Amino acid sequence: MIYLKSPEEIEKMTRACRIVAEVLEYLKGFVRMGITTKEIENFAEDRIRSLGGIPAFKGYRGYPANICISVNEEVVHGIPSSRKLVEGDIVSIDLGVYMDGFYGDGAITLSVGKIDEETGKLLTAAEEALYLGIDNAVEGKRISDISYAIQKHVEDKGFSVVRLFVGHGIGRELHEEPQIPNYGAPGQGPRLKEGMTLAIEPMVNAGTHEVKILSDGWTAVTGDGKKSAHFEHTVLVTSNKPRILTKCN
Ligand code: MF3
Ligand code: CO
Repeated sequence: MIYLKSPEEIEKMTRACRIVAEVLEYLKGFVRMGITTKEIENFAEDRIRSLGGIPAFKGYRGYPANICISVNEEVVHGIPSSRKLVEGDIVSIDLGVYMDGFYGDGAITLSVGKIDEETGKLLTAAEEALYLGIDNAVEGKRISDISYAIQKHVEDKGFSVVRLFVGHGIGRELHEEPQIPNYGAPGQGPRLKEGMTLAIEPMVNAGTHEVKILSDGWTAVTGDGKKSAHFEHTVLVTSNKPRILTKCN
């Protein structure tokens, strides 16, 4: 069942999503060499709560932290720790906020100091893929039109899309139907309708698309140890342009 949101529900969701966007924006100025991922988590939790939200991930299926922080070859679901960031790292920060009955979900990957050229291309390709996917989130298209646009761009750039994790519907639940794979032929899956709210989230690997889960039961890492990037927005489908909800305005 895919829930279409009413204007009142969209209004509430927009507020949760705006907190996601504002906190990710603050984090761009906060993340730097020498900081630990736990310090990033603490800062994010503080910002989320002071804006009136609740961190959405803690306790979700037993997830132990407020946000996910995944460094370098970590793909998603990295658990904040005493690890210090060093120059050349890339750090993916995935943030969910719950407020007034609704969820917002977003992620960015930031570079720490100077990164090598290939890693820069990885970040650019992953972010571009997210926006190309979003361009397809319009009424009348199908879910896999989003998937196809993402996969095509990523592979054209010589990188790979992760299969094990997918984007998702979002609203009164963090994960609602439909699933949104980041790969696949176009023209498949549910038809998009005005009022659908989707979390679109390509995870892009420099090498193999395979991932492994570490013994902590959460952290997903690339199968070959090469780097991975992750960008995510919560988006509203409309009859014309998609509306990005996890955006500051
Ligand atoms: N953006 C991720 C997702 O939608 C975050 C979930 S992480 C968890 O799956 F910790 F909450 F599980
Ligand atoms: Co998500």
